[in-house]
Amino acid sequence: MNIGLIGIGTVGGGTYRVLKDNASAISNKMGIDIKITHVADKNLKLAKDTVDKDITVEENAFALIQNSSIDTIVELIGGTGVALEIVRKALENGKHVVTANKALIAMHGEELVKIANKNNVVLAYEAAVAGGIPIIKAIREGLAANEVEWIAGILNGTTNYILTEMKENNLPFDTALQQAQDLGFAEADPTFDIEGVDAAHKITILASIAFGIPINFEAVHVEGISSLSQKDISYAEELGYRIKLLGIAKTDNSNVEIRVHPTLIPEKRLVANVDGPMNAVLVQGNMVGPTLYYGAGAGAEPTASAVAADIIDIARQSMLSNKTLIPTLGFMPDKIHKKNILSIENIFSEFYLRLTMKNKVGLLAKITNIFADHEISINSMVHKEVKENNLNPDIFLITSKTKESDIDVIIKEIELLPENIEKIVKIRTEELK
Ligand code: HSE
Repeated sequence: MNIGLIGIGTVGGGTYRVLKDNASAISNKMGIDIKITHVADKNLKLAKDTVDKDITVEENAFALIQNSSIDTIVELIGGTGVALEIVRKALENGKHVVTANKALIAMHGEELVKIANKNNVVLAYEAAVAGGIPIIKAIREGLAANEVEWIAGILNGTTNYILTEMKENNLPFDTALQQAQDLGFAEADPTFDIEGVDAAHKITILASIAFGIPINFEAVHVEGISSLSQKDISYAEELGYRIKLLGIAKTDNSNVEIRVHPTLIPEKRLVANVDGPMNAVLVQGNMVGPTLYYGAGAGAEPTASAVAADIIDIARQSMLSNKTLIPTLGFMPDKIHKKNILSIENIFSEFYLRLTMKNKVGLLAKITNIFADHEISINSMVHKEVKENNLNPDIFLITSKTKESDIDVIIKEIELLPENIEKIVKIRTEELK
């Protein structure tokens, strides 16, 4: 099987090395030879310096798509501009496509899957979600006998690295981000990491293959970590929780929730202890129960490991007459149906709230009365000590499970109290069991 590799950056270079360095290990597992015959990159010099002399190097990616000797295109340039054109044309030209491009699948997956199906070619995207963790394979194949009830994942290495550094080493946000960029985890535009967009691309894809719904990035509620303060990370610890940026997808069969936001999770959960740039995905199947997948979610070799696995899958399937043995989105195309996506106001959660208020007689009574009036219970509460240098100490609490629109009403009422100083901080919690 001849491969045309487009993009020889971090993941492209990694893929080249994995296929070369592990060539004999890989060939022992296959009945067919795979070979990168062509590489395309705008940086011709980098491409020539990276690959062996017997590989044809081109500046123009479209030359590879037109080349009839190439069976499979590996798209590793990222983004939704020229990458979309490349993947679209490659599929139309009857070439299998492997991509690590989560934004592309999350935003244009519906169209691309249709083109792949029409042309009886494979569109493979294992590396698009959680890097080296074979989570697409786990859900589409390993858990195929289950109805997936929910997924919760640490899907972005950069933000997990930042949160870990903020908690463990008291590093400021910016320094931790710079380190993540230096280590090669961050997106070209790091706001995609920090504002939760990258994790949202990934949970969009997972929700589709888990629940049999169309890929719909617009339906995801997205909040990042840029407004998270160190204070809330340490108060969460006091209450027995860690804060992680989670991608969450849930269904009760008629409704679906898809969201990304900082989340308090009990510190005793395994996933609460996933630190640094590592990713972890919890998948709850109705038969298997909870399953947990852990590994490197970013970086050259881990991501390349997933790209190479897709190439191996395609090579194996190419020996069969039906080359698209496994449905691209896990479900047969005619069994993919829209479900009602709940807006964030309609979800239920326990909520962490932090209040900054003037410490006056009767303040706590006023606050708890507001909760009582709305029949919402407080599960735990801390009032920091009043000291000479801190006359208005923080109050933080966790509510019982409540509809988000109800908690928003309570927040508004508390913020209208004359004692209120600052906007109340609200963070959702998940028990993950
Ligand atoms: N920027 C991503 C991350 C890379 O930090 O996880 C892998 O998609």
